[in-house]
Formats: sequence, structure tokens, C-alpha cells
Amino acid sequence: MISEEGSSPAVQSQVATAQNCPSGAIRNRRKDDGAEESPPPVNLIQVRENGPLALRGALSIDGEAIDYRATLCRCGQSQNKPFCDGQHAAIGFQAGPTASTE
Ligand code: FES
Repeated sequence: MISEEGSSPAVQSQVATAQNCPSGAIRNRRKDDGAEESPPPVNLIQVRENGPLALRGALSIDGEAIDYRATLCRCGQSQNKPFCDGQHAAIGFQAGPTASTE
């Protein structure tokens, strides 16, 4: 997470929005000499309910670096595989039942 101390609330809000974008589609680049976003200290994966897998880390797919955030299709209907393109919502994707906790 990049500290934006001294920045206006609007800039801080825009940086937070970019850094919380699960797919990495919203990004920001600094125009000063400040540090750019860095990968989290541990790789993270989140299963989004009836949606994609959200990954955070120093990622690469087929040897190509893709920055630090990505959402990967889990419904099989994306036109931009392996990435999620939102089709899961259009088709009403429902993930299977959850595992038993017993
Ligand atoms: S999970 Fe989003 S398009 Fe497949």
C-alpha cells in the first residue's frame, strides 16, 4: 500500500480505489518520485461468491508479468480467458454448494 500523506483527499481516494480494484483494471501511476505499489508480503487468493478467483501477489501467466492483481474466470464463459470479463454476472453463474463444515 502506498502512503499518500500530504495528498489531497481526492487523490487519496483515487489511490485507494485503484489499490482495492481486485482485477487490476483500475491503476494509478505516480508522477513524483514516490514508491509505486508493491506486491503484498504474502500471495493472496480469494474465491468471490458466484464470481472469479481474485489473486494478489507478484503475478505472471505464461511467463508474462501481469502486475499485482488479477481476477481469473471460474465460470468458463469469459471471452478474455484466463481473466474474468464479467460474464459470470450476465449468465447468473452460481458456484456449486459449499463444503460441509461437519
Ligand atoms: S468468473 Fe467472471 S467471467 Fe467467468
